[in-house]
Amino acid sequence: MVMMPSIHHAVVTGLSILSAYGLSLYLKKRAKHAPYPPGPKGYPIINNLLQIPKYHPWLAYADMAKQYGDMIFLRAFGQPILVLCSSKRINDLMDKRSSIYSGRPYSTMMNELLDWGNIFSIIDSNKRRWKRQRRMFHQTFNASVLPEYHHMIRRHVNRYLVHMLSSSSEFISHTHHALGGIIMNITYGFDAKSKEDPYIAESLKVSYAFKVSALPGAFLVDNIPLLKYVPAWFPGAGFKRFAKYYRNATYNSQYMPFNFAMDAMNRNEVQPCAVTKLVETFPDPADPDYGEIKEDLINALGLSYVAGVESTDALLSAFVLVMAIHPDIQKKAQAELDRVVGPDRLPDFDDKDDLVYLKALITELVRWQQVTPLAIPHKTTEDDYYDGYFIPKGTLVLGNAWAVLHDPELFETPMEYNPERYIKDGKFDDNLLNPLDFAFGFGRR
Ligand code: HEM
Repeated sequence: MVMMPSIHHAVVTGLSILSAYGLSLYLKKRAKHAPYPPGPKGYPIINNLLQIPKYHPWLAYADMAKQYGDMIFLRAFGQPILVLCSSKRINDLMDKRSSIYSGRPYSTMMNELLDWGNIFSIIDSNKRRWKRQRRMFHQTFNASVLPEYHHMIRRHVNRYLVHMLSSSSEFISHTHHALGGIIMNITYGFDAKSKEDPYIAESLKVSYAFKVSALPGAFLVDNIPLLKYVPAWFPGAGFKRFAKYYRNATYNSQYMPFNFAMDAMNRNEVQPCAVTKLVETFPDPADPDYGEIKEDLINALGLSYVAGVESTDALLSAFVLVMAIHPDIQKKAQAELDRVVGPDRLPDFDDKDDLVYLKALITELVRWQQVTPLAIPHKTTEDDYYDGYFIPKGTLVLGNAWAVLHDPELFETPMEYNPERYIKDGKFDDNLLNPLDFAFGFGRR
């Protein structure tokens, strides 16, 4: 009697292990033999290289989706690429299976030569250092913390408005400077008054290096990694000199403002900011992880300018464009501001909920024009099997936010800029798909 349950248990356990093993073999086998998702037929060796669109790829992929469906599978020199062109595919894979769809492609130029391999926007999301840096960044920039920095934002916006009044034709440079000032103030606590601020100048160089090196095919070393061993003086090795220059700029952009904040902190002269808050959480310097944690903080915060300024700047430029081509919409927004805020003060954060038309106008702007229509590529970190198709580990995954936000099934006359689509009975209509869920990237990242 005493033996029975344990024999039974052993048999059941054995059978469970065997059937789990059998099932996993079966799934593996099935996956191996399942087809890849549909896509254009390619050529030997280069595969679909010639069919991969170079200009406005989000439009070209949306067009391709009419022929191949909302999941398009391509290859370039053997590298699998999956483009997702509907909210269903993006939700199913990048959100619901985010644990395996949130890697980042490896780039010899970015990860090694520019020495960005430990910066969290470049790292796979299942890595320890990604998690730590992501947490630090989130502690600074999440919506519930930002009110602590409203006074800084107000100061920079007031200064910006004065500049706009005196020389509105320079709005691009004024906008860039105001956004850079806000980010630097929140992150490092200093108030960059001049456009020639040396810390901002270094960060601008890094933004440029990112834009150049993130372009697919920009550097041959990403296709032929052995080229990294070519010495910098060798003819044609301009990429090595590029890497050295921008590696130094990256280092300066991270350490100069951080050291400034630390010195000011030691003199008790710093404004409370991300650095002052996060160094409080540092372990004891004797802790074996101290060095890595400090470097993670410096890397994470160094990203705030590069990630936050150009993107917001692009959206604000789109705002100016849309106001210029739709004076009628501008008038309606102004009328709402006059009614809610009145003539005696500037709008403030507390007015947000009463500015329904303005909210619709901004939401529609995010839907109509994306700053990053294909976001930043993700990479699968495991083989996957989905809807009868096999998606191999290492596939680059692009979510086509533009295709989703211009889908005629979801938005009537999607090419039209029309804030009214978000207003129903005088209130903001939450029933439409929220563009904010697609315009800022997908899944875990
Ligand atoms: C209009 C403004 C912005 C747009 C459209 C935008 C868009 C995006 C997109 C599409 C991604 C890629 C996410 C993914 O891989 O799925 C991203 C990543 C990121 N953004 Fe933004 N962003 C904006 C503003 C900002 C701001 C203000 C900050 C912070 C100051 C910021 C910080 C980041 C960071 C740190 C990442 C990297 C996250 C990671 O790789 O894990 N962004 N952003």
